[in-house]
Amino acid sequence: MPLLNSIAIDGPAASGKSTLAKRLADALDYLFFDTGVMYRAVTYAVLAQGGDAGDEALCTRVAEGLDIDVQPASQTDGRQADVLIDGRDCTWEIRQPQVDASVSIVAAYPGVRQALTGPQRRIGLRGRVVMVGRDIGTVVLPEADLKIYLDASVAERARRRFEERRRSGKPEEFERLLDSIRQRDRLDASRDLAPLRPAEDAVIVDSDGKNADEVFAEMLALVEARQDAG
Ligand code: DC
Repeated sequence: MPLLNSIAIDGPAASGKSTLAKRLADALDYLFFDTGVMYRAVTYAVLAQGGDAGDEALCTRVAEGLDIDVQPASQTDGRQADVLIDGRDCTWEIRQPQVDASVSIVAAYPGVRQALTGPQRRIGLRGRVVMVGRDIGTVVLPEADLKIYLDASVAERARRRFEERRRSGKPEEFERLLDSIRQRDRLDASRDLAPLRPAEDAVIVDSDGKNADEVFAEMLALVEARQDAG
């Protein structure tokens, strides 16, 4: 059975992409690479130095100079990987609500995308990778052997994020999460450069009303079908 070189998984905020992609990568023994952490790391670094996400020149400078490293998870606290910024573990800092609120603004800057897309593509081209983001199938790795666009309604995504935050002991108001996701969807899909949209040859998987096991089974079946076809 021929192996797929690379699998691209795109979709809107909180669609379950990274959880399912990690599971898929583990099942296939592929590298799991969530590109969203890079945009989050830049945003966090800008805010941590007292900077403003609206300052495009600053964000671009930070993106160009930041040392972002992603390593296999060193702790079993729910993380999928360790995210190191300039050598410091910032895995949870990059998930703070302040970062959620600004990351789509930062990710829309051409200079920021240019600084991050090259390294992402180089990792993708090495193969045996499940890569997650918004523009993997359209821009970063258009030659991916399988492209999945994981979708779900905004209400469902907010409900899942609400549960996730509650379980992790950092509850947030449902309405605020809903607003934040709506806002990010709008910014991610309307930006000029590499907007969120399914690639023409992507398979759209809608996870509304399905549990994680069902969606995972659907994704695995797509991988197997693509391998058999290859
Ligand atoms: O998947 P996430 O929520 O961690 O992504 C954080 C932000 O980064 C998201 O609002 C859009 C941006 N992003 C992007 O523009 N391109 C990617 N390939 C990955 C993420």
